[in-house]
Amino acid sequence: MLNVLTIFGTRPEAIKLAPVIKELQKASGICSKVAVTGQHRQMLDQVLDLFQIKPDVDLNIMLHNQSLFQITNRSLTGLEKLFDQERPDLVLVQGDTTTCFAAALSAFYCQIPVGHVEAGLRTENKYNPFPEEMNRRLTTVLSDLHFAPTDLAKENLIQCGVPEKKIFVTGNTIVDALQNILEQPIHDAHPVLERIPHNSRIILVEAHRRENLGNPMENICQALDKLVENFPDLHLIFSVHKNPKVREVVYRKLQNKERIFLIEPVDYPTLIHLQSKAYLILTDSGGIQEEAPSLGKPVLVMRKTTERPEGVKAGVAKLVGTNAKSVFLETARLLKDKKLYNKMSRIANPYGDGKASKRIVQIIQHHFKRKKEK
Ligand code: UD1
Repeated sequence: MLNVLTIFGTRPEAIKLAPVIKELQKASGICSKVAVTGQHRQMLDQVLDLFQIKPDVDLNIMLHNQSLFQITNRSLTGLEKLFDQERPDLVLVQGDTTTCFAAALSAFYCQIPVGHVEAGLRTENKYNPFPEEMNRRLTTVLSDLHFAPTDLAKENLIQCGVPEKKIFVTGNTIVDALQNILEQPIHDAHPVLERIPHNSRIILVEAHRRENLGNPMENICQALDKLVENFPDLHLIFSVHKNPKVREVVYRKLQNKERIFLIEPVDYPTLIHLQSKAYLILTDSGGIQEEAPSLGKPVLVMRKTTERPEGVKAGVAKLVGTNAKSVFLETARLLKDKKLYNKMSRIANPYGDGKASKRIVQIIQHHFKRKKEK
């Protein structure tokens, strides 16, 4: 039996690893275990329930207003004990969170091979996104199998000196997760939709990144306020992240404004449903950039840079920065220009075909079979 231990801690990692875990559970010759750090508590638990994943181990590290030092420290300490007990043959991590980096580092200390799902995303800017760009670079050097979502991600890994034979282009597992949700009947319509007239246009907003905390978040809120003022048919739904630093600004600037609805983070199917009801999406989230093309929704990315240029190149996403003027002007342009809107909303998803998880598990099986034969 090949013992594979999958480790994650936040909501997006859980969504992107759930389809992989399901495939691992089905695969012959693999014993799959799951450990969560609990870097996110409520937001992670929602996804675990949804995909019916029961972690074998829960380190429960989350603290209110936690610092990066605390997340890293508490993860490393918990994982040391865990690896002492479980000596897995492979540790699987995803993306660029601090849980991902800490798990890869812990596995390295115990000389356990690491598989990195969604490897090779880069902005080439050390501090943007912060700390994710460094988390993923450091995870790359600690990993043995690199599951790149796109050809561009593979190129980035080669640039970093990763041998080509260790890189596998699989597509992004978020498309697998999304397809799984779309196959199921909708019974998670959000009550906020009942308060919005049918003929109005909805903008869905989600913003949470550390580099957008403070001034950028203030600017974003200012732009949103102005948009609603200028477009009488517009209704705005803002899903407000649990981070207290996000909540303070958003509630102070936008609470009790007409046609602006601030809602709690919703479960995954509800978020997909809200995306499908939106006319367009304003976000700094990576996952939403990857989902929206499957739903035919244009995305305006409120960041200075993106590690997902594939969507921008394909024409389904646009980088609009975080100053109030550009967020307002770019959104207003898309609201007024029907031709531009149509162009941005009819594009195939450049991030995957829904089979990434199957490929990842086959590659793992193949890799360890060959290793054994050697
Ligand atoms: C983390 C990841 C980021 C990812 C994002 C997705 C790091 C450094 N950042 O950012 O890469 O894009 O998750 O959401 O790994 N909180 C709760 N309950 C929850 C979740 C968060 O109360 O369920 C609060 C806590 O007070 C926590 C704060 O939010 O201190 C921030 O969470 P944290 O994981 O530190 O950073 P995120 O901004 O969520």
